[in-house]
Amino acid sequence: MVLEIKNVNKVYPNGTHALRGVSFDVKEGEFLVIIGLSGSGKSTMLRCINRLHDVSTGEIMFEGKDITKLRGKDMRQVRSRIGMIFQHFNLVPRKSVMTNVLSGTLSRTGIFKSICGIYSEEDKKKARDYIKIVGLEGKENHRADNLSGGQQQRVAIARALMQNPKVLLADEPVASLDPATSHSVMQYLKKVNEELGVTVICNLHFLSLVREYSSRVVALKAGNLIYEGQPHDIDENWFQTIYGEEAVEVTIN
Ligand SMILES: Nc1ncnc2c1ncn2[C@@H]1O[C@H](COP(=O)(O)OP(=O)(O)O)[C@@H](O)[C@H]1O
Ligand SMILES: [Mg+2]
Repeated sequence: MVLEIKNVNKVYPNGTHALRGVSFDVKEGEFLVIIGLSGSGKSTMLRCINRLHDVSTGEIMFEGKDITKLRGKDMRQVRSRIGMIFQHFNLVPRKSVMTNVLSGTLSRTGIFKSICGIYSEEDKKKARDYIKIVGLEGKENHRADNLSGGQQQRVAIARALMQNPKVLLADEPVASLDPATSHSVMQYLKKVNEELGVTVICNLHFLSLVREYSSRVVALKAGNLIYEGQPHDIDENWFQTIYGEEAVEVTIN
């Protein structure tokens, strides 16, 4: 087990109860997808896992150790083992692909070295390797903002890989992309999962993508975990329970 989420509650300072007694396990090497309506608590869950947010109660065990109360150096160490990519990529737009990817070593290199652009040959080689893995060989010196959305998300994946993550969290990574590009990004995530053995936890909106790429699914609704199982077991009834009576399944081709 890579992660064990145990009875996690998250209440934001304004009183919003975003997670209610959520428990689930994440196994080594799996591609777990979290689904649910907007506002169901998906992003909150990922942010609690990488310690961007503190949980209110409950435990998150990472490689057998509760990480919810870690501070300072210990917290940064755990965070460096948990990579993250976001809906809006969060690249530095005017910097090159190479510079953006290299900045993924930040947790090890330190801010000073990174600002001065001092990276080891080893890091540069690693960056070139990961740029190749996400299919962007030859684009090392292109500015990030000259790339398409899908290519920018692949740069973000390469950047996350620079920290040698055990787990990669992806918060709606294809939500701002068109359908064809969405598949391309999902395929590279799958490749990272299968070929590099990185465990992936991915928040997704579209069920068609979930069925195609996930090895297991959990569903959140108003902060409660209401489904845990195989993607192909989500039938019409489950679909309506998760998304509401009025919802209609949309397919991304
Ligand atoms: N920083 C925050 N402060 C207060 N409430 C928040 C904050 N972030 C999210 N929420 C609330 O928590 C609930 C879950 O949000 P979120 O985790 O973003 O859901 P999702 O990612 O599934 O759309 C929502 O009601 C949202 O409004
Ligand atoms: Mg969200």
